[in-house]
Amino acid sequence: MQDRLKSLIESARKEISTTADPARVEELRIRFLGKKGELPAILSGMGKLPPDQRRSLGEVANSVKAEVEQLLAQAIERAEAQKLEAELRGQKIDVTLPGRFRPPGHRHPVSRTMEDVVQTFRRLGFEVATGPEIELDYYNFQALNIPADHPARDMQDTFYLEAPWVARKHPELANSVLLRTHTSPVQIRTMLSKKPPIRIIVPGRVYRRDSDLSHTPMFHQIEGLLVDRGVTFAELKGTLDAFVKAFFGSEFKTRFRPSYFPFTEPSADLHMTCVLCGGKGCRLCKFGGWIEMIGAGMVHPNVFKAVGYEEGTYTGFAWGMGIDRLALLRYGVDDLRMMFENDVRFLEQF
Ligand code: DAH
Repeated sequence: MQDRLKSLIESARKEISTTADPARVEELRIRFLGKKGELPAILSGMGKLPPDQRRSLGEVANSVKAEVEQLLAQAIERAEAQKLEAELRGQKIDVTLPGRFRPPGHRHPVSRTMEDVVQTFRRLGFEVATGPEIELDYYNFQALNIPADHPARDMQDTFYLEAPWVARKHPELANSVLLRTHTSPVQIRTMLSKKPPIRIIVPGRVYRRDSDLSHTPMFHQIEGLLVDRGVTFAELKGTLDAFVKAFFGSEFKTRFRPSYFPFTEPSADLHMTCVLCGGKGCRLCKFGGWIEMIGAGMVHPNVFKAVGYEEGTYTGFAWGMGIDRLALLRYGVDDLRMMFENDVRFLEQF
């Protein structure tokens, strides 16, 4: 076997080192190293040898294989060098031509704002959760304590979908398929899938039948939910105040006003010092010095009931905020629709 290996490496050296043709190199690779090639053929008899001979033969075989591989690699290099030289000689490649310019893309201002808000909450210990944009009435409304005749449904002009793929399997749900009007259904989906402690943020697209200077049919929200034993309203205030200071700057102040949401009790709106005038009063804050930023509250007991959490065991808080308006404020744009027209002349400015 030693002799056969020796004659193999000799013929490999001779044949491979005289070629620079890629097809021929591949042919030789198959001939020497391929599954049915010469080297495996020699080694197939190795199993019958006594162990010590097997070991020393194995060593020789390995070095033969390494050398053949190296010879093949060198042949490929030679082939490429020859090809390049031929092209240069034939003027097929003009190395003096200027390179092709590929305009760099960049992130959309809304995506950037969204990512920055997400990062800020991640540093506070929240994890990102997501859910479907095509939702069922149950998750978008019912489980969030918004029953069929609830006036809060009017606040959210909903796009309903014809959904034959749902109706086929579940005729009773035929009229319940919609585009989610807020990110709150992900609260329900998350709580149904696991027990507290829960600490999530939910960035995503939401849809409402709305279109004017400050409303588009699709926009973005970030939802937050924290549920555990003994969570208090003070922690809600502390968390959202910490967010505002981390995101906008420590000089910004917050205040909470009573509000109403069906899925929280008590509910509050967070106001912060106006980002334009710093609180002195301007057109943006209608000369009041404050702007409304976040809707929030303590999770309503009916919501815990809907997800099957035992009564009185957990408390938690939730909040929701629009991201698009935040992007407008941040970049000083006054028409929300520009954010979605995707006119490159507009987008390039950021
Ligand atoms: N879902 C509300 C909306 O779209 C925003 C909101 C308010 C979410 C209060 C919450 C909350 O989680 O606690 O207007």
